[in-house]
Amino acid sequence: MRISKVYSWFYGYYPWMVVFATTLVLFGSLSKSNNNQDEVPLKASKFQKPLRLPNKGYGYPPVLAYWISGSKGDSNKMVRLLKAIYHPRNQYLLQLDSGSSDYERENLGLLIESETVLQTFGNVNVEGRSYAVNKMGSSALAATLHAAALLLKINSDWDWFIPLSASSYPLMNQDDLLHAFTFLPRDLNFIDYTSNPGWKQRGEINRIVVDPNLYYKSNTPINYDVETRKPDAFEIFGGSPWVILSRPFMEFCIYGWDNIPRKLLMYFTNVAYPLETYFHTVICNSFEFQNTTLSNDLRYDIIPKSPKPKILNTSKYGEIVAGESVFAQPIQEDDPLLNMIDEDVLHRMPDNFVPGSWSSCQVINQGEDLCYRWADIDTVKPGSKGIKLASLLTKLVEERRHNPSQCHQQHGP
Ligand SMILES: *[C@@H]1O[C@H](CO)[C@@H](O)[C@H](O)[C@H]1NC(C)=O
Ligand SMILES: *[C@@H]1O[C@H](CO)[C@@H](O)[C@H](O)[C@H]1NC(C)=O
Repeated sequence: MRISKVYSWFYGYYPWMVVFATTLVLFGSLSKSNNNQDEVPLKASKFQKPLRLPNKGYGYPPVLAYWISGSKGDSNKMVRLLKAIYHPRNQYLLQLDSGSSDYERENLGLLIESETVLQTFGNVNVEGRSYAVNKMGSSALAATLHAAALLLKINSDWDWFIPLSASSYPLMNQDDLLHAFTFLPRDLNFIDYTSNPGWKQRGEINRIVVDPNLYYKSNTPINYDVETRKPDAFEIFGGSPWVILSRPFMEFCIYGWDNIPRKLLMYFTNVAYPLETYFHTVICNSFEFQNTTLSNDLRYDIIPKSPKPKILNTSKYGEIVAGESVFAQPIQEDDPLLNMIDEDVLHRMPDNFVPGSWSSCQVINQGEDLCYRWADIDTVKPGSKGIKLASLLTKLVEERRHNPSQCHQQHGP
């Protein structure tokens, strides 16, 4: 019923808007042909606000804000990943960089739009515009901050921001993860200072680099300068590029009432791999937030040591699923490893969503393949993985009390 309302609201507009009405995808190129403008200013109203707001507060599971970023050819991977991490409580933002074509981004919007479940809850958005990004450069940091800003604007009632790449995959279902996070202090940030000594070993931290993706339209390699610099106004920290950040800390970084996030953003514009250092440095140099980190990235990851990072495959399956990691990456599209995780860990049927306590559907209108009334989205039923992770996190948070600032847990000198 709700769906048809959304449609009728849009009927007075251009016919193409009807097509995208439910996902409210904003396509710069299409708007351009209608408005004859180069850049159409982003209007928050173009993004879909969640249609069912979860209950929040003491004892309720948190709300996670996921950002899935990809490039040319990643649409199918992104949809598969979305289905593997979907829960109606959460918020999702999908974004393709300028390696992708307009057609690809439209198609991604259509894939999302064609899913009844996603329409019912209205908690998935696709960014229709694209820009150049290089994972090694500051354009990747800008994209991450942009995604967090959009998620705050769409609906700021989430608790953690989780950036994923199209090559990531979950190692537990959302009922497990939401359960494990229910008991955590909501200001906790997962920033790992230990698992990636690479950022120091490369010795590039003081080297000035320029990321041309900030001023070119297409994806471009970054440039190294011969000059170096050594800051003394702040200390640089680094570690794993994979983070899970609390909403208070994201607001601190995005709104910038303190100058440190902005100042460091300007500094890190000319640093290689700023995703391995920016959030680490901001948090450790902010009195207000320095004691809110847990040095663990919850990822099973092969940190890229060469320009061509190693890809995870089935030979590591046992090791990948045995640990406490919540996500693994990078995994190639259609690698049998994904099917193994689907079958044994997530219990996900091909093309379907991961079943959870929300998805037991009471079909009122028998015969129609639609689900009008969904089970409760405010309770989760954890399995053994969720219970194990909850006790591990409780232990780590407890240990943290003795050593509230985890900034100096880094490897190396
Ligand atoms: C963080 O922990 C350190 C060490 O225990 C303490 O000196 C400092 O005051 C704490 N900062 C805040 C904001 O609580
Ligand atoms: C899996 O990856 C390892 C390296 O991590 C490689 O040696 C092996 O050949 C790969 N196996 C398959 C089936 O691709």
